[in-house]
Amino acid sequence: MDQKAFDSNVLIDQEEVLRPKMVTVEIAGKKYEVPEGITVIKALWYSGQEVIHGVGCLGGYCGACATYYRTKDDPKVRTCLACSTAVEDGMSFSMMAPFPARKATYQMAELKDPKQDLFNLYPEAPMCRNCNACTEACPQGIDVRDGVWKAVFGDFKSVSEMFMDCVMCGLCTPVCIADIAPNLVALYASRAQGAHFMEKPKRLQERIGEIEQGHYTKEWDRILGMNDQELKDVCAAIK
Ligand code: SF4
Ligand code: SF4
Ligand code: FES
Repeated sequence: MDQKAFDSNVLIDQEEVLRPKMVTVEIAGKKYEVPEGITVIKALWYSGQEVIHGVGCLGGYCGACATYYRTKDDPKVRTCLACSTAVEDGMSFSMMAPFPARKATYQMAELKDPKQDLFNLYPEAPMCRNCNACTEACPQGIDVRDGVWKAVFGDFKSVSEMFMDCVMCGLCTPVCIADIAPNLVALYASRAQGAHFMEKPKRLQERIGEIEQGHYTKEWDRILGMNDQELKDVCAAIK
């Protein structure tokens, strides 16, 4: 390096750069120093918490890490997915304990009138009082309250579209003053939509029919009888 071009005034302390900036967070009433910008779940691990339940995909898909949090000086308790939310200084949080919501059991294919059956399976669904707490609690930004009403009025198609991003975190359930589990009502409506009301793609139906009639049994037997090398050769040939 050209020593003349080296300016000692802009010397950077390497250790200082590598050392992460720390923030203070509060977990279950106790304060911890954790690196700025890590996720809530990493902060729990970093501070030595034993997180056995509430961890799944770590990518915002499985909904296992439902968490309540509050930011500095703000009295409002909010909700988030711990694996997808960064900590900030003064944040206080704790993961949601499993909530014992009632889950109706049903054989979807055997239901004769799924829109009416909703009222037998989830009789509390029409008792929604429009408080909107479920929508406010949803970390996925779904209009949960509207979805419950749409399900009650039999618009299962809209429900299935609205809840496409639902990760079943369950945060909308403990807040409901009418004891509705909105996510379970929506899941039922979406399943019913798929099983009973959606037009099945013609080509897919044809292919399922062919499989049922055994058109591909011979081919399957051939594949299942192959050893690893034969499988690799066949795959390579397809590519
Ligand atoms: S609808 Fe309920 S269960 Fe689904 S993501 Fe929103 S809060 Fe979670
Ligand atoms: S929390 Fe319950 S009562 Fe309130 S809007 Fe949602 S479903 Fe209705
Ligand atoms: S761990 Fe799966 S959504 Fe957070």
